[in-house]
Amino acid sequence: MKTLVILISGRGSNMQALLNADLNVDRMVVISNNPRAEGLQIAQQQGVETCVVDHRDFKDRQGFDEVLAEKIAEFQPKLVALAGFMRILSDNFVRRYQDRLINIHPSLLPAFPGLATHARALHEGVKIHGCTVHFVTPQLDHGPIIIQAAVAVLPEDTEASLAYRVLQQEHRIFPQAVRWFMNDQVKVTGDVVQIAHASVSQITLYSPGLAE
Ligand code: GRF
Repeated sequence: MKTLVILISGRGSNMQALLNADLNVDRMVVISNNPRAEGLQIAQQQGVETCVVDHRDFKDRQGFDEVLAEKIAEFQPKLVALAGFMRILSDNFVRRYQDRLINIHPSLLPAFPGLATHARALHEGVKIHGCTVHFVTPQLDHGPIIIQAAVAVLPEDTEASLAYRVLQQEHRIFPQAVRWFMNDQVKVTGDVVQIAHASVSQITLYSPGLAE
């Protein structure tokens, strides 16, 4: 049984992209640290199992992470996907799920780890921006890269317009990365990921800039 556990904190559009895709999984479970996450309702409407581990019920990160890790373990997932999960996970959590924990990040890593990536890209005047799916390691937003997609930064871009175009690409690359993982096509050697039976143009997507 191939189970995918998806962790969310809010809107859940990346989660939805996963729920809508053909991922070669037998079971999907959505877990949120935020009982008010919009994504929880979307998942429930689609008949997907959900649960909440509210970080506010715990006095420290370690306590929250231990309960979250145990909750996830109940489902014996092949893969855990962070889809807009806005909590930093402790080293113990990351080590427990190492090699089966991936994240979607709205920048071309290693550029712009952390928050406010689109504002920072505009501020730095980069001409190409994008998104990355990577394995999670103890160092924030730094793990081995599975797939990236780039968009042009347009002269008239605002934070919102750039975020919109990057998000469209997120919705393409996240399901692709999960599908490869579920199909056992993903091999990690040190910091480098190789995808069996995938072309360079599938691993590095480029969008010419305007909304599709
Ligand atoms: C996305 O931009 C994702 O890359 C980042 O958080 C945002 C979550 O959006 N980690 P959504 O909840 O998937 O719509």
